[in-house]
Amino acid sequence: MTRAIALHNVSKRYGRAPRAVDNFSLGVRPGEFLVLLGPSGCGKSTVLRMIAGLEDITEGELLLDGEYANDIPPRERDMAMVFQNFALYPSMTNRENIGFPLKLENPRADRNPRVEATARMLGIEDILDRFPAQLSGGERQRVAMGRAISRRPSVFLMDEPLSNLDAKLRNHLRAEIARLTAELGVTTVYVTHDQAEAMSLGDRVAVMRGGVLQQVSSPRDTYALPANVFVAAFIGTPRINLLQAVVHAPLDGRMSIDLGRQRLPLPEPLSPDHQLLRIQQGRQIIVGLRSEAARIAPPSQARPGEVALTGIVEHMEYQGHEALVHFNTGSRPAVVADLESPRPQTAVRRRRNAGAGVLTRLKDRAMAQVAGPVAVLDDPVPEPAHESRITAPSDLVVRTGPDLRLRAGAQVPLLVDLAHLYVFDHQGRRICPAPMDVPGLDA
Ligand SMILES: Nc1ncnc2c1ncn2[C@@H]1O[C@H](COP(=O)(O)OP(=O)(O)OP(=O)(O)O)[C@@H](O)[C@H]1O
Ligand SMILES: [Mg+2]
Repeated sequence: MTRAIALHNVSKRYGRAPRAVDNFSLGVRPGEFLVLLGPSGCGKSTVLRMIAGLEDITEGELLLDGEYANDIPPRERDMAMVFQNFALYPSMTNRENIGFPLKLENPRADRNPRVEATARMLGIEDILDRFPAQLSGGERQRVAMGRAISRRPSVFLMDEPLSNLDAKLRNHLRAEIARLTAELGVTTVYVTHDQAEAMSLGDRVAVMRGGVLQQVSSPRDTYALPANVFVAAFIGTPRINLLQAVVHAPLDGRMSIDLGRQRLPLPEPLSPDHQLLRIQQGRQIIVGLRSEAARIAPPSQARPGEVALTGIVEHMEYQGHEALVHFNTGSRPAVVADLESPRPQTAVRRRRNAGAGVLTRLKDRAMAQVAGPVAVLDDPVPEPAHESRITAPSDLVVRTGPDLRLRAGAQVPLLVDLAHLYVFDHQGRRICPAPMDVPGLDA
């Protein structure tokens, strides 16, 4: 059996603190694998714990198979939870650990067939009669997973179950979790702050920021059609290039996007999406270009839809199968708040905030009305001197083959494919490609 989960306008407040989860609405379909993704502290675990019944819901409704479920005790929800810090009973063998939930259910039944079937699924048949202390981290996590699934619950809730493991084991178990949950067909909600993990596992990914749901969509749409600049920046490696820009739309001339030192002329005839940019004339916008949207080539090789830029090589990052070239194109990078775990305020940032003008405060207030401030259109906060040598001047990262050698300071011709151009308004909402639908309940 598997079930549908729906959260309607759910909020959570811990004491007097601001809402840890704010007006959160989401439907998870029966058998679906849904990933909750977001930076540390954005409320992922809180959502999961409210679904499990381990945390009270302050406002809003939880529905299980369409039935109001806010008050159902955790034990009666038929859900199994796997945590990052899995705890196995050290005095029990792995067989007893996996069988323990079955024992609670029916102390007299023969648990061995179910325990062994579960162990086979996880490839741990030969360690069943050892104790947890005699296992590696990955084996222990598999036993913990076995304990969660032996009972065949109707819902799996997993809270960063792999983050204590090394990268290789994490990838391996990630694939196993995908296979296992597909095989069992059990509705799964999986929490992670690792976007690569989210993209590889989820049927759909729900991105959160500061307690607020930003977008729910398939991994493909999350990457290709990010609802706002936060989602665009959170998803994808290397991070999308985000540049401050202004739309230039003269009545009698060609429309272009002014990046500061250089311009991107929009190809004519204008696409419907590019036509919509006309109303942004003169306004600050944010341009998003993924690293695959630009390539190193002279203007003579431009294909339809490609326009020329020049970049000065700042440094190269060798990645084995490819290289990333960091360029300076004379643009100003847009800064996106909250992408990482909250860091203590730096002295520079505190000084800036203290001296912020009325305009900045008004802008901050306007932004906060959407989903909190998403992007800052001022100069980025200066990095400490030892980092600035590497990070400060480059504003555009471009992928190339691993064998290309470019020396720092070289001026290089670039072609930008405007079919892969994203534009976000001053509040960080995507306006190009134009949004088609609004994220929300769809189950
Ligand atoms: N029991 C609690 N009492 C008070 N505040 C809490 C409690 N649990 C969480 N919070 C706060 O609620 C917010 C969301 O926390 P939550 O644990 O849900 O975040 P998260 O997205 O799971 O983060 P992480 O990736 O670090 O696990 C945080 O600001 C956190 O400090
Ligand atoms: Mg958490």
